Amino acid sequence: MDVSEVIEQRYSVRAYKPDPVEDEKLAAVLEAARMAPTAANRQPFQIVVVHTAGRADELGRVYGREWFTQAPLVIAMCAVADEGWSRSDGKPYADVDAAIAMDHLVLAATGLGLGTCWIAAFDPAAAREVLGLPEGVEPVVFTPLGYPADEPREKKRRPMEDLVRLERW
Ligand SMILES: Cc1cc2nc3c(=O)[nH]c(=O)nc-3n(C[C@H](O)[C@H](O)[C@H](O)COP(=O)(O)O)c2cc1C
Repeated sequence: MDVSEVIEQRYSVRAYKPDPVEDEKLAAVLEAARMAPTAANRQPFQIVVVHTAGRADELGRVYGREWFTQAPLVIAMCAVADEGWSRSDGKPYADVDAAIAMDHLVLAATGLGLGTCWIAAFDPAAAREVLGLPEGVEPVVFTPLGYPADEPREKKRRPMEDLVRLERW
């Protein structure tokens, strides 16, 4: 798939088959995240790969939807603020960097026929405990990773003119 096809095909997958994710595919999506651009190339993120088998109850405390643990893998993208770059007015960019890395991972997964769903509505305290995250490593977003068991829906998006201002000079 070329990039625009991948972007078109990606959707939030909320039902997964139990089929395992091949090691080479997992390695490829993690490599896509590793290659993501980050502010000042600081790469202030850590990725936690969790095998869901036998951990449904624990992971259910992190995010309660049953499809979260249907996939064989759950990926947590964490930001490490102290390692990140901040703008001259103090605005930190570690969360932005973590989001870009996650988007690389998500698009690479789509290109390999895998499903993902960005999840921000998780319980941060449960996430810290279940993942055993040290101080300073902040979970930003999760995704299940597995083969889709649902179908894409129509994409509803705001019109271009709401989102883009084309200035001419
Ligand atoms: C930062 C972010 C957080 C999100 N958090 C959740 C979530 O907690 N639960 C969920 O079911 N979907 C979540 N989503 C998925 C969005 O609802 C979804 O991307 C949006 O409705 C567009 O649908 P699509 O991904 O199928 O194109 C999140 C998406 C993003 C980008």
